[in-house]
Amino acid sequence: GLAAATGAHAQDFPAGKPITIVVPFAAGGPTDRVARDLAEAMRKPLDGTSIVIDNAAGAGSTIGNAKVARARPDGYTLLLTHVGMATTPVLYRKLPYDYETDFEYLGMINDVPMTVIGKPQLEAGNFKELREWIAKNPGKTNLGNAGIGSASHLCGLLLQSELKAEMTTVPYKGTAPAIADLLGGQIDLLCDQTTNTTSQIEARKVKAYGVTTLKRLGTPALKDLPTLDESGLKNFQVTIWHGLYAPKGTPAPVLRKLNDALKVALKDPDFIRKEEGLGAVVVADRRVEPAEHRKFVQQEVARFGPVIKAAGVYAD
Ligand code: MLT
Repeated sequence: GLAAATGAHAQDFPAGKPITIVVPFAAGGPTDRVARDLAEAMRKPLDGTSIVIDNAAGAGSTIGNAKVARARPDGYTLLLTHVGMATTPVLYRKLPYDYETDFEYLGMINDVPMTVIGKPQLEAGNFKELREWIAKNPGKTNLGNAGIGSASHLCGLLLQSELKAEMTTVPYKGTAPAIADLLGGQIDLLCDQTTNTTSQIEARKVKAYGVTTLKRLGTPALKDLPTLDESGLKNFQVTIWHGLYAPKGTPAPVLRKLNDALKVALKDPDFIRKEEGLGAVVVADRRVEPAEHRKFVQQEVARFGPVIKAAGVYAD
């Protein structure tokens, strides 16, 4: 019967079949980047099976999340998720999935700082001048993000709440297209992960106003960038952890095999080198255990919930 078949099949997983990692944002952005690098590092421990990336973008990540929530729970469709997707469902009146219960947590991958960057034409030379400019132009600042549920949106909410500023937000299918518009001057500001912004800052193609960690970053191109905390936003801190999820009901032996492969990947020197080069930190602690990861996510939802609710930006 099905149970036996699933059982037997679960033991042979991945049995040479390709695995798909769904990225709920456009190709070329931070979520896509970590998915591709992780896929490469997980191939070997998954008996060399191929791992393909499916960019199911749109609606602030909820399209991609829904796709995985309703996928066959057989281990061949996974979700690359992050703190933005985990904490912003409260902003949606209804979603075709329950973030809390419709996924199995496979473990946490990394933690990525964010930077506040501006279009090259922006006059403000530092965060203090930027703050004055935003205050002088209420509602006129165009702040890009990747939709309600994105990390860039979460950072933008926190920024507006700290600055008590009103900005016009411009949603994209990912921060790769957002950054393209920032470079072209179509939008003024973007809070995005160092994965995307390190090279732009290094090439001086954007204005850089600060990092969202409490300590300055070690990456050579970012080490002189002040933290927002030292620039007057006391204790402003938001870093983007990414996690790997499977649909609820995926058999335990498959979950174990995937979690084992994730642990091997997080120790892969190539993976670590790429992550550190992008200013990211590979999570190599207990949060790679599903139960610990779930506990941490619940803490993050509790931590960001009040600010997000206060922002009250609702999407249908
Ligand atoms: C986000 O803002 O959530 C991500 O940076 C979007 C992306 O990966 O493109």
